[in-house]
Amino acid sequence: MLVKDILAAGAGEQELVVSGWVRTKRDMKSLVFVEVNDGSCFAGIQCTFDKGRGLGSGTERELARLTSGASVEIRGRLVPSPASGQKVELAAEELTLIGGADAETYPLQKKRHSLEFLREIAHLRARTNTFGSVARVRSRLALAVHRFFEENGFFFIHTPVITANDAEGAGAMFQVTTLDIPELARTGTPPDWNRDFFGKRCYLTVSGQLEAETYACALSRVYTFGPTFRAENSNTTRHLAEFWMIEPEMAFTGLPGLAALAEDFLKYLFRDALEKSADDLDFFDRRVQKGVIENLQNVVKSKFTHITYTDAVNELQKSKAAKEAFEFKPYWGCDLQTEHEKYLTEKIADGPVIVTDYPKEIKAFYMKQNDDDKTVRAMDVLVPRLGEIIGGSQREDDLEKLGVRMKELGMNTADYTWYMDLRRYGGVPHSGFGLGFERLVQYVTGMANIRDVIPYPRSRQRV
Ligand code: 4AD
Ligand code: MG
Repeated sequence: MLVKDILAAGAGEQELVVSGWVRTKRDMKSLVFVEVNDGSCFAGIQCTFDKGRGLGSGTERELARLTSGASVEIRGRLVPSPASGQKVELAAEELTLIGGADAETYPLQKKRHSLEFLREIAHLRARTNTFGSVARVRSRLALAVHRFFEENGFFFIHTPVITANDAEGAGAMFQVTTLDIPELARTGTPPDWNRDFFGKRCYLTVSGQLEAETYACALSRVYTFGPTFRAENSNTTRHLAEFWMIEPEMAFTGLPGLAALAEDFLKYLFRDALEKSADDLDFFDRRVQKGVIENLQNVVKSKFTHITYTDAVNELQKSKAAKEAFEFKPYWGCDLQTEHEKYLTEKIADGPVIVTDYPKEIKAFYMKQNDDDKTVRAMDVLVPRLGEIIGGSQREDDLEKLGVRMKELGMNTADYTWYMDLRRYGGVPHSGFGLGFERLVQYVTGMANIRDVIPYPRSRQRV
């Protein structure tokens, strides 16, 4: 039985077996308390051995050499607990030590470890309270994502990981090749991409958007949820080289509809976490980020603030921080920096902000151009503490304008005939966004570093 089911069952003197890993062992005179955790929920179960009542000699012997980290099976009866802080405990009768953990070398001894230290032992860190909670919250959020879309008429599209196109035009792509590059370099031969596996240069995808668009223009509402890759140099607490992105795409929808979807979606996910991950969130609230629960509750009740990029820049420029604290002085045309995003969400709005209509020069080729010739129908959702959590836009559905913009940006339109076909045949206004899944997990848990919300973080010089 899993510990979560045992704890939910309640004490009834029933006999059962607990399987898990020892967190702590406390030796009192005749009583030995062993806290066992199996990761099925935040709480462990206390197993109490009463030597006074006589334990088998095997159990006595194993108990004496039991250490933190060992795996065990403990048979006993579930009884009401006299101790505070837990309703039930196991009146333990028999202990089987399955796998020992040498106290001299096992890295997770009882003291509190720094997150930096735990990053060095990523293969063991899931056994700590923090990383167990992150893993459970992450899993539940992923399920909630699928549930939200299922309930709203979206289909899950599996877009490719290997691709020949650069969806964001940002150039930070990992190349995929089977050519023997070191050998070519040794012999001084320039690589012939025609002879590469796919007959052309290919990359790991930075976004499933363009392919998702093709399916939205057939099934109306679709989404992708998969790994994406960016060879970005940004060594920050919000960037990874490999991260998971959720990208809904809706046909017959403009920017207002997209913004409404983003707000509904985030609120749904927060509500779901508050309800289904209450114990884990309680831990984050107490030990990681004070007020994280109340913050989520407030966001669920709030109405997101809407502001255009132009107004946002005006606000930033006239703020006191612009004169004193901003490292990067805001001006019309600049990309909003994290410090600006934090100011907008924390000082101006005190909650999530949806910024729209960015300058076209700082946004991707596919965004729908406004009539002012300067801005595009882009939308970023910013949240306190993190800044950008969602980036999206209405897509350019005017074939001619799209072609002109691509040429301006030096793109080869011949590589994108398939993409232009969506505008050529039965084109429709359509819109979509990308939510960085790790940023979502960061926001919900209050974890400060993105490397601590994915099991095996990949970033520059780290794999
Ligand atoms: O703003 P981005 O680059 O938008 C796109 O990729 C669009 N194609 C999405 C779309 O419209 N379908 O990325 C979307 C989100 C960001 O808001 C951020 O949350 C996350 O993806 N993100 C990253 N998360 C972790 N590490 C990185 N290096 C990230 N880059 C973007
Ligand atoms: Mg973005």
